[in-house]
Amino acid sequence: MLLANILGKTHTWIMTHPEAELNFREKEDYFHSLSRYKSGEPLPYVLGWWEFFGRRFNINESVLIPRPETEHIVEHAIRFLLANPSKRSALDIGTGSGCIAVTLLDEFEDLQITATDISYSALKLARDNAVKFGVESRLRLSQMDLTIAITGLFDLIFANLPYIPTASLENLKVARNEPLIALNGGEDGLSLIKQLLKDIPRLLVPEGCALLELEAGTGERVLEVARADIAKADFRLIQDLAGHDRVLAIEYDES
Ligand SMILES: C[S@@+](CC[C@H](N)C(=O)[O-])C[C@H]1O[C@@H](n2cnc3c(N)ncnc32)[C@H](O)[C@@H]1O
Repeated sequence: MLLANILGKTHTWIMTHPEAELNFREKEDYFHSLSRYKSGEPLPYVLGWWEFFGRRFNINESVLIPRPETEHIVEHAIRFLLANPSKRSALDIGTGSGCIAVTLLDEFEDLQITATDISYSALKLARDNAVKFGVESRLRLSQMDLTIAITGLFDLIFANLPYIPTASLENLKVARNEPLIALNGGEDGLSLIKQLLKDIPRLLVPEGCALLELEAGTGERVLEVARADIAKADFRLIQDLAGHDRVLAIEYDES
């Protein structure tokens, strides 16, 4: 992958051209990338990109590497948007690289998204990715804590907020490589998710939908909090491919 990246070729080309020689610059780039990788840096940061929902997103050390389990949010958002063609405003909280928002904007050309993040460098990268896919005119980016300065109502709200309990972070390899601000979910891991749940009634339209990514094993606890905070809604836990509760879907019917 490192060689293919440096030469701008496919993996198949690399495997089928053992006779190809590298010039001085290519060799230097290759050995530099290899030493970064060998020193433990995650491959996506060394490559500068990673795939998410079939698209190649620019990635750097200021954002979480997009994960396959987050594609469940995209799948369910697509299902909601297809079933509700008049609902075309969305809010993404903690956008990071912008992978969820930009994918959905690329899938639905009449969708408008407001996206927030507390990290300015993450927002800069989300902007680059929006430009890369030509959707920047429909993505409004704002730096803030959760939804603090957001006014107005949205048809669809989605968030993959940090959800790892602070005490677990020091034993995790990811915490050595990926930004803590993207991982740290406070004492019980649910601190940001709980804050957001309180805000959903203020931000979601009647018959709107909210999708929140969860840490495996926290589904029932989050469901309990959501039921206490949000009246007149249907709640559903959606499982990932390993069978873990991964997304909480809230279908709001308060009118
Ligand atoms: C788990 S990452 C998810 C990034 C991206 N949405 C994805 O799915 O790959 C969480 C993101 O939330 C942002 N974040 C952390 N605390 C926040 C807060 N209080 N308000 C807004 N964003 C926050 C982080 O900077 C990070 O980009």
